[in-house]
Amino acid sequence: MKEKFYITTPIYYPSNKFTLGNCYTTVICDTIARFNRKQGKDVFFLTGTDEHGQKISLSAEKAGKSEKQYLDEMIADAKALWSLLGITYDKFIRTTDDYHEKAVQKIFNKLYEKGYIYKGKYSGLYCTPCESFWTESQLVDGKCPDCGREVKLQEEEAYFFKLSEFSDKLLALYKENPTFLLPSTRVNEMVNNFIKPGLQDLCVSRTSVKWGVPVEFDPKHTIYVWIDALSNYITALGYESDDDSLFKKFWPADVHIIGKEIVRFHAIIWPAMLMALDLPLPKQIFGHGWMLFGGDKLSKSKTANVKECVDPRILAPRYSRDSVRYILLREIPFGSDGNYSTENFLTKFNADLCNNFGNLVSRTFSMLKKYFDSVVPAVKEYGANEIELQNKVLKEKDNVLAYMQSYDVSKAITSIFNIFSEANTYIQLAQPWAVAKQEGQEESLKAIMRSLLECIRLGCELLEPFMPDSSQKVLSALGIENKEFSNLDKFEGLKAGQKLSELSILFPRLDIAKELEELAKLS
Ligand code: MSP
Repeated sequence: MKEKFYITTPIYYPSNKFTLGNCYTTVICDTIARFNRKQGKDVFFLTGTDEHGQKISLSAEKAGKSEKQYLDEMIADAKALWSLLGITYDKFIRTTDDYHEKAVQKIFNKLYEKGYIYKGKYSGLYCTPCESFWTESQLVDGKCPDCGREVKLQEEEAYFFKLSEFSDKLLALYKENPTFLLPSTRVNEMVNNFIKPGLQDLCVSRTSVKWGVPVEFDPKHTIYVWIDALSNYITALGYESDDDSLFKKFWPADVHIIGKEIVRFHAIIWPAMLMALDLPLPKQIFGHGWMLFGGDKLSKSKTANVKECVDPRILAPRYSRDSVRYILLREIPFGSDGNYSTENFLTKFNADLCNNFGNLVSRTFSMLKKYFDSVVPAVKEYGANEIELQNKVLKEKDNVLAYMQSYDVSKAITSIFNIFSEANTYIQLAQPWAVAKQEGQEESLKAIMRSLLECIRLGCELLEPFMPDSSQKVLSALGIENKEFSNLDKFEGLKAGQKLSELSILFPRLDIAKELEELAKLS
C-alpha cells in the first residue's frame, strides 16, 4: 500500500480578496503536496475558507450583498486564483458547507457531553451599533476600532472550553515530542509565554454573533471562531459524517502549514480539542514567517496603501505562474520573515530564471542541435571534470530531498538552482565550442553534452513540484513523462539515440525599468 500524506493550509477569511501573502502559504503547501506525490505517496491536500463571524457579515453588508451571495463571489475569485497559480488541492472546504456545519455541532455536543464545555459569562468591551466585543488592545484611542464610537463593559452568557485543564498534557506533549511544532524557536514561545503561566478557559460561543453555526441544544448561541475553524481539518475528511473513510485513511495529518500569527491556536487549542475528543494529534505543525511588503505584512485592509504591484492576478499572467511561484518559494527563508519587492522580483526573474535556468537550457539545446543534430549521445567514459560535476549535482539532489523532509522549500529550491549554476560553470570550464573544433575529440564532446543534458533532466525532475510549467516543458522536450521521480541517483535518465524536440525560450529577458513603469500603471 502507498504511504499516505495529508497536508493542509489554514482556511482563509474571505473578508477581502486573497493577497500574495495568502498565496505564499498555499504555493508552499502545493509544492510539498506535489513533491510527495512525485515520491509515490498517496497525498491529500486540503485548503478552504473560514466563512463565519461578524467580519464576514460586515464585508457583505458593505458590498450591499447577502452573506451567501458575497461569499459565493469571493470563493469563485479564490478558486480562480488557485487555478491561475496551479494549485492542486484535493479538497476545498467552506465552513458554510452543510456537512461541516453539522459535524461542528456534533463536535460541540461531544465536548459538552464529556464535560469539557460549560456555560458561563463572557465580559468584554462592547460596541452596541457594531454588535461587537473588543479587547482593550484592539481599541483605537479607547473607542471602537470600526466606527470610533464609545464602548462599554458588558456581560453575556457564553459557553467555555476547559482549556485550563490541558496545561500539563500540553507541556508533556512538547517535552516528549519536541518536533511537534517547527521551527523549534516557536516551541519556547508557546511553552514559556502561554502554557507555563497557565491557560485560561476559552470562550467558544456568542449570543451577539449571528452569522455562524448555532449550538444544537441551545440555538441562541453561535459557535464562535476556533472550534468551527480548526475542526475543518477533520470535517473535510468526513469526521462525524455518514462517510468517514477519508478520515480513517488520512487522519492524523502529516503537517498543518500556517502563518506564525495563528501558531498559538494550532499549537495549543487544537491539540487540546483533539485530546478532549480522544483523537490522535497531527504529526507536525509548521509556523512560517511573514512575507513583508515595505516592512508590512500587507494585512488585507492595508492593501490599498501599498504602492508595489502585489496582485498575483496581474503578475502571473504577465510573467508566468512559475515566476510567481519561484519568488514566493525562494525569497523568504522558510520559518523567518522576508521582504518582497517588485524590483527584486523582476531582478531575480532576469538573473535566476532567464540567465541561470533559461540560458542553460537554451544553450545546451542549441549546442546539441549544432553538434549532434539534437540526438542524445551515448557516452563510453566520463572524464574527471564530468565526474566532479556529477558528484556536486548528486549532492545537491540529496540536499533537496533532505530539505523537503523538513518542509524547507526555500533551501530546497536554492539547491535545485545550484544544480543549474554548477552546470553553467561547467560549460565555461569544458568549453564545448573549443572541443568541437578539435580533431578526434568526438567522445569528449559527447561526454560534455550528455552531462549537461543529465544535469538539466535531474534539475527539472526535482523542480517540477516547484515550477511545474517550465520544468514539464523541458522534461517533455527531453522525452521524460514519468509521474514519479525516477533515476535521481544516476546520470542516466535519458535515452541515448533519442532525438530531442525544439524548445521555445522559457523566460524572456525583461527590461526592468520599463516593467516597473508598466506595473505602476496597472496597479
Ligand atoms: N481563518 C484564519 C485561519 C483559520 S485556520 C483553522 C485566518 N485566516 S486569514 O485569512 O487571516 O489567513 C491567514 C493566513 O494567511 C496566515 O496564517 C498565513 O498563512 C497567510 N498569510 C496572509 N498574509 C501573509 C503574509 N504577508 N505572509 C505570509 N503569510 C501570510 O487567520
